[in-house]
Amino acid sequence: MSAKLTIAFTKSQAVSGGAAILLKTVEADLPAGVTDADPAGVYARAAKVGKFTGKAMATLDIVAPHGSEADRLVVIGLGKAEALTAHDWLRAGGVATAALKGAEKATVYLDVPGLAVSPKAAADFALGMLLRAYKFDNYKTTKKSDDDDGKVNEKTIKVTIVTADAGAAKKAFAEAEAVAEGVILARNLVNEPANILGPLEFAAKAKELEKLGVEIEILTEKEMKKLGMGALLGVAQGSARPPRLVIMNWNGGKAKDKPIAFIGKGVVFDTGGISIKPAGGMEDMKGDMGGAAAVTGLMHTLAARKAKANVIGIIGLVENMPDGNAQRPGDIVTSMSGQTIEVINTDAEGRLILADALAYADAENPDLLIDMATLTGAARVALGPDLPPFFTDDEDLADDLADASLEVDDPLWRLPLHKGYERMLKAQIADLTNAPAGGMAGAITAALFLKRFVSKERTWLHLDIFGWSQSERPHSPVGGEAQGIRALYRYLQTGWK
Ligand code: BES
Ligand code: MN
Ligand code: ZN
Repeated sequence: MSAKLTIAFTKSQAVSGGAAILLKTVEADLPAGVTDADPAGVYARAAKVGKFTGKAMATLDIVAPHGSEADRLVVIGLGKAEALTAHDWLRAGGVATAALKGAEKATVYLDVPGLAVSPKAAADFALGMLLRAYKFDNYKTTKKSDDDDGKVNEKTIKVTIVTADAGAAKKAFAEAEAVAEGVILARNLVNEPANILGPLEFAAKAKELEKLGVEIEILTEKEMKKLGMGALLGVAQGSARPPRLVIMNWNGGKAKDKPIAFIGKGVVFDTGGISIKPAGGMEDMKGDMGGAAAVTGLMHTLAARKAKANVIGIIGLVENMPDGNAQRPGDIVTSMSGQTIEVINTDAEGRLILADALAYADAENPDLLIDMATLTGAARVALGPDLPPFFTDDEDLADDLADASLEVDDPLWRLPLHKGYERMLKAQIADLTNAPAGGMAGAITAALFLKRFVSKERTWLHLDIFGWSQSERPHSPVGGEAQGIRALYRYLQTGWK
């Protein structure tokens, strides 16, 4: 990862070169920092000509401003002062990074006249900057600035944020930085191609969390066989690369505290198996480990923050390939739970892997069990690429998670675990089919399938994510994305107990 941003906070600083980023609400007459960065008063005329009022995410770019020490003045609109939320600060930060356009240095003035900018808001702004600065260019051998997105390979951009309570902002930023690290770790994992990142390589990446005090256990094929994980192993048998189940333990709570468990689908590449996928767009299936990436990223963030909770992360790492040993449509596998599954479509592999990973996690008796998976195309058809659906029977959990997700602009939307569709899971000669007949309500029937592998009394939530950002958004570049990490982290901070 390059286009690194380093962010520092200070109470006051004069501009000297680079970009001066000034913020303005609709109500304020002038942006923050304008007296320092714009001594000749260029702003008023430029704003008039550019019809800039401070509307949310609007920008005014003044190059080589007369009389200023700055190379450019970028004024960013915040919208209306009274309505500002965490999500607005994040977006403003993202817009600020996008506006840097190659500047190696930037001074950001946060304290808009008439606006009390909290340390939390400053940290959210900085998080937006970090998330937008991300660029995956590990495989570009020409290290030069060939785009105009301001993200030049191997260059570090030094950002100084000027705000009255710089000390508190810096403290709040330490948390934001840990969140950014988790998200960036997950994005990197998703972006890595499958020839580089197989199950073993992914497991090795997860093992690196030991540095943060996370205990890592890695189960091999043999150990999974002993546990009776026939569903997961059936998917893996068509690949030359063996599967792994990684168990990450963060023990930040009291010994008697029941753990929270996160489960991730980690299909390093999904060809569909014998029920092979069409060629067009198949390359995106290198991201079919987005759930495992998100769980790994979340474990990183929680450990980096020394979260006071016991957390287990479990990821099933498998490749779905169609070789001579691959499973066939019609094969029947026995899952760890004892339930048998008729594999009607080898492309519905995620639920097979999760069936065993969930049963394993359920046996740990967690207080809360959450799985994350790039599980169905149907979820994308229903809600599009940017709004992953989640499923749970717990009303409080549903409300609190939805609220947290909107607050941090990592939006998640509840869909129903409609009992009436249970009938679609019936198989001809086994307990369950992995490909419900009719093909309708595919995201719901997939969720209902998973539910069969979780104890009835367990608080459980399933999140059907898309590990990919298809269009550039203020704090999210195109490419691998870690949907759900920020929403879940916020939920754990606020809603959980
Ligand atoms: N990994 C895919 C789902 C997917 C597709 C996620 C595109 C993100 C983008 C999953 O393994 C799959 O192939 N699901 C099938 C299930 C069907 C065969 C019952 C699907 O959704 O078509
Ligand atoms: Mn599939
Ligand atoms: Zn898949």
